[in-house]
Amino acid sequence: MTIQRPLIAGNWKMNGLRRDAVARVTDLAARARADGPGCDMAVCPPASLLYSLAEALDGSAVALGGQDCHMAESGAHTGDISAAMLADAGCSYAIVGHSERRADHGEIDPLVRAKAEAAHGAGLIAIVCLGESEAMRDAEEALDVVQGQLKQSLPPGAEADNTVVAYEPIWAIGTGRTPTLEQIAEVHGHLRALLEANGQGDIRLLYGGSVKPSNARDILAVANVNGALVGGASLAVDDFWAICQSCPD
Ligand code: PGA
Repeated sequence: MTIQRPLIAGNWKMNGLRRDAVARVTDLAARARADGPGCDMAVCPPASLLYSLAEALDGSAVALGGQDCHMAESGAHTGDISAAMLADAGCSYAIVGHSERRADHGEIDPLVRAKAEAAHGAGLIAIVCLGESEAMRDAEEALDVVQGQLKQSLPPGAEADNTVVAYEPIWAIGTGRTPTLEQIAEVHGHLRALLEANGQGDIRLLYGGSVKPSNARDILAVANVNGALVGGASLAVDDFWAICQSCPD
C-alpha cells in the first residue's frame, strides 16, 4: 500500500474578496516555487474567486478546489454550482459533506455520497468530510459515528486517485480546541482499517479542526494522518505556509 504524499488543503469558507485573495495565492505560489514543501497543496476559496485564483495559480504547485458541488450536472438549482463548473473554473478538488454544509443546509450522508460521485464524474478529487459532534464524543460514539458516515458517504468507485477523506470533529472546528493526539490516532486508525477492509487502504486521511502552525507538526506526525484540512489558519499565508512546511519528510 503506497499513500501519496500529504495534502494540505485550505478551506477559506465564506471569506475573501478578489484583490486580497489574488495577492494571497500569488504569495503562496511564489513560496512554493522557491521552496517546494513535501506535500500537495490546495486552496478552496468561495466560488466567486475561482476564475481569478485559477489565473493567479496557473502553472504553480498550488491546486484549486471548490467548497461544495451539486449532485446534478446542470439544471434548475438556483444558487448551486456543479462539479463540471468547478472543473471548468480550474478546480481539481471539491470538498463535500463539510459539517457546516451538513448543519446549515441539512446535508446527509446519501447526498454527500451523490455529490462525491458528481465530483468524480467531472474528474475532480472529492474531499469527503466526516466527524462527530461533542455530544457524540461524550457518549463515546465517535468511532461508530465516523464509521457510519464513511460507509454511507463514500460512493462506489472511491479510490486514492479520486477521493480524500477528512476527519473533522465538529467540536474542534473553529474553536481552537483539538482532540488529543491519541484521539486523532484512534479515529484515523479506525478509518484506515475500514478503508483497508474495503480495498481502499491507500486513500489519504486528512485531519481538520483548529490546525495551526503551533500544533501542525505534532498532528501531521500521527499515524494514518496524511495531511490537513485547514480553515481559519489558511487565510493567513504565513500560517498556511508554516503548516505546509510541517509535513513529515
Ligand atoms: P478550522 O476549520 O481550521 O478553522 O477549525 C477547519 C474546517 O472547517 O475545515
